[in-house]
Amino acid sequence: MLDALAALGVTEQCVTPHQKASQYLPDWDRIEATLASLETVRKPTHPTLRLGAENMWDDVFYKRVVDGTIPHYRGTQAFLVEIPPPLMPPGMVEQLFKFRMAGKVPVLAHPERYHALWDNDRLAGELRKHCAFQIDLGAIGGFHGKREMKAARHLLEAGLATCVATDAHQVGDLQQAQHGLAWIDKKLGHAATVRLFDHAPRALLAGDFIDV
Ligand SMILES: [Fe+2]
Repeated sequence: MLDALAALGVTEQCVTPHQKASQYLPDWDRIEATLASLETVRKPTHPTLRLGAENMWDDVFYKRVVDGTIPHYRGTQAFLVEIPPPLMPPGMVEQLFKFRMAGKVPVLAHPERYHALWDNDRLAGELRKHCAFQIDLGAIGGFHGKREMKAARHLLEAGLATCVATDAHQVGDLQQAQHGLAWIDKKLGHAATVRLFDHAPRALLAGDFIDV
């Protein structure tokens, strides 16, 4: 995967293990140990690695909101969060607003999957005031389903997307990501690719919230 990421031109990779109650909730010690062992095989030509987490908006997340222990992209004010596709959590907009008031940069993973946002740009725009939208490159190429592809492309064309990410779980996902990048290049222009895949992620990590 490091080889494939380097081939995509990635120079810094945020690695975001799932934090999802009762399904994927590896101990943080184990995550740190795995990252350390990965660092031992990482070559200078590979991207540098920054640890984060993909936080599911669930009971564990709520507890961490209270405790102030949400795993962020290390060394930044930004963190990645996902919600269950069929259902927006109650009070989500208000909580996102609180994060923003506290100087946090919430990054919403794969908004193209969320049913509530399909054909609802008003809601998408409302959410987008309080969090960044990170589109999955694989979705753009249709690898996550037809409806998700349509939504991903629409969010990009409507200017609601903040950035794009590979969401790679395996090497094949990185080949799929290449299709997404090619689509952006062709439909929105190369400057959009650079903005979405390079400048915007760096800005978010620097703590800049990018408004629509
Ligand atoms: Fe996810």
